[in-house]
Amino acid sequence: MRIHATGLHNIAKRRLSTGVRRRARAGLALMLGLVLSARMIPSANAQTPPQAPTLNVLHWWTSASERAAADRLVQQLAAQGVGWHDDAIPGGGGGAAIKVLTSRVLAGEAPDVAQVIGRTLTDWADLGLVLPLDDVAQRGRWRQVMFPVVLQTVSRGGRIMAAPLGVHRINTLLYNRHVWTRLNLAPPQSWHDMEVAAKAMRAQRITPLAWSDEPWQIATVFEAVLLAEGGPALYAELASTQGWSSWQDARVVAALQRLRWLRDLDDEATTEEPWTTPARKLQTGQAGMFIMGDWARGELMAWGSQPGTDFGCVPVPQTAGMHLYSIDTLAMLVGRFPKRAEQERLAEVIASPATQMTYNQAKGSVPVRMDIDPAALDECARDSWQTLARPGSALLPSITHRMAAVESTREALGEVLHRFVKTRSVTPQQAQAQLLAIVRGAAQ
Ligand code: BGC
Repeated sequence: MRIHATGLHNIAKRRLSTGVRRRARAGLALMLGLVLSARMIPSANAQTPPQAPTLNVLHWWTSASERAAADRLVQQLAAQGVGWHDDAIPGGGGGAAIKVLTSRVLAGEAPDVAQVIGRTLTDWADLGLVLPLDDVAQRGRWRQVMFPVVLQTVSRGGRIMAAPLGVHRINTLLYNRHVWTRLNLAPPQSWHDMEVAAKAMRAQRITPLAWSDEPWQIATVFEAVLLAEGGPALYAELASTQGWSSWQDARVVAALQRLRWLRDLDDEATTEEPWTTPARKLQTGQAGMFIMGDWARGELMAWGSQPGTDFGCVPVPQTAGMHLYSIDTLAMLVGRFPKRAEQERLAEVIASPATQMTYNQAKGSVPVRMDIDPAALDECARDSWQTLARPGSALLPSITHRMAAVESTREALGEVLHRFVKTRSVTPQQAQAQLLAIVRGAAQ
């Protein structure tokens, strides 16, 4: 728009150099140009002021709900006079985005802000790549208002290293309520309930469980199953760097068997689709259930489905009262051109109660703050938030979503699980040995 206005202005300038009549007309054109540009600039102002400083933000939010949630951040930031230049790298789970980000950082072309989470965040903080946000955190009383698990995730050496956006729950089982009502089924609270529901669905040619064989999606389901079969104490050991020997536990084998059982609840032989494809199958009733982090819940809502009416959500069987979490954070990177004031402004905006509510409603996650009103959350979100808030709840870090493993480890685990699910000749014991070898290697 503003280029257009400048163009008019240039035409007016050329005309001014000719005769008087032309000069008069040119004056008009010039005025028109000025008026137009004067009218256009304020409309740009509604977004961000002229020459507003802009932050380049690299992330992997490209689905409908992810985009909607990011747009809410863009709006809140614009209201503070800072622009957002979007660098979205497609690919669920962020594997591709992290590769692009890493190579950009190595090439000295780091974006100003990036979706750097969990172990990647603390590693990058150690390398001095991340701007600490202690002043912002102190002004915003983050230590008083945020969940301890959130503070722990964004802290390194006592310093706050990123702005936390929301908490996702990985152990989420979504089910299509219309299918449930039609088949007169009880909400799936145990593996047995799932089996009964699967039988009823098969008779109606409905796929019991929506599924994708992308390694990170298999790994997402697997860690929820690992928590279910192993219990929180074993899972905590499995997720700790030094706990590699616990991967020899027989319950890991049970989890692998359960993973295969779940895979068999999807009738399709090959399905390596983005996570939005199984989510769509669930929404349309082609499939009855879906196990995925609750960003899938955000997606169903972005498509117009209502929690409680169109779909229900329960913790994965045997994980009620537990929270397998992944906390999304934006880190402010230390680049060649410092933009500290704007980066701090973004961190402030992210933590504010207003952004926390609006962003998380769209994203499917829950606020990182303890001082919100849970009555304002829908049923699924309320259960997630209250589990975080309840003293003594088992809160476990997601391995697949980087809360407890470095990038190379999570990728290697995903590959083993992928091969296990795809190749029937690989036994659970063999897969266990391969998983063990990876975590043992990572611990040394
Ligand atoms: C991120 C979510 C994202 C999901 C799917 C997770 O690792 O934490 O924000 O929606 O991947 O891409």
